[in-house]
Amino acid sequence: MSQIELRDVAIEYRKPKSDESFVAIRGINLSIDKGSFVTIVGSSGCGKSTLLLAIAGLIPRARGSIRVDGRDVAGPGRDRAMVFQEASLLPWRSVHGNVRFGLELQRWSRDNVDQRVAHFIGMVGLGQFADYHPHQLSGGMRQRVNIARALAVDPDVLLLDEPFAALDAQTREVMGNELLHIWEHDKKTALFVTHAIDEAIFLGDKVVVMGKDPGRIKDVVEIDLPRPRTTAMLDSAAFVAYRRTLRDYIAADMQSLQMIEDAA
Ligand SMILES: Nc1ncnc2c1ncn2[C@@H]1O[C@H](COP(=O)(O)OP(=O)(O)O)[C@@H](O)[C@H]1O
Ligand SMILES: [Mg+2]
Repeated sequence: MSQIELRDVAIEYRKPKSDESFVAIRGINLSIDKGSFVTIVGSSGCGKSTLLLAIAGLIPRARGSIRVDGRDVAGPGRDRAMVFQEASLLPWRSVHGNVRFGLELQRWSRDNVDQRVAHFIGMVGLGQFADYHPHQLSGGMRQRVNIARALAVDPDVLLLDEPFAALDAQTREVMGNELLHIWEHDKKTALFVTHAIDEAIFLGDKVVVMGKDPGRIKDVVEIDLPRPRTTAMLDSAAFVAYRRTLRDYIAADMQSLQMIEDAA
């Protein structure tokens, strides 16, 4: 059953200091199954963040419809939680306090809030660090806090906008594996933006390939690799074939950009 449905969605931004608008994405049609892990790739500026923000209900759309669980998205809601590229933590609060903050914002009235917070901190492997403050943590640890905060509010949909982009390759791989582990256990619907092709294939049931000028969906590639995914699969023939397909798509985008620049 599809949980997220986008029909002919377009998003426009107002150009600075003018009344003109700029079409960031248009003609977006996309169905995302409940409990699936969908990744989005595309070159910088093709509208990946815009698409996520629109589903989060944080920016208005110029046309089309976005439905989550059959309900029209009219603004942010508890059913969707977003994780941004830079861990947006409150520096004066501990790890526990930061994860708790998400629940406080939602006026979470259920019992055992602190127990719940501790549970999610443990889930992202920070059990020993609950009393630490953000400046005492590495970038990877800060992103774990961010993910714990998003999970703790129990959303149906997790929207992750390049959450590992600021991390080194090693940490990134570990975090990807852990995220899959959590997802396999929790079965949230996940929409994950990355510009790393391998990461998109490794994590996804489907890879949405976006292109630009205007921002749009070029293709959706089904990733037919068994789960749980393992690092050994990175060298499998199937993986290599997916990588080649996706690289070609993105290379084509860069070339057309080069042609536009050459013509200018
Ligand atoms: N707030 C904004 N105002 C005006 N233009 C924007 C704004 N945010 C993004 N854009 C433009 O919209 C396009 C898509 O941006 P974005 O969604 O951030 O792309 P991506 O995440 O794929 O790099 C880009 O051309 C960007 O410059
Ligand atoms: Mg972006």
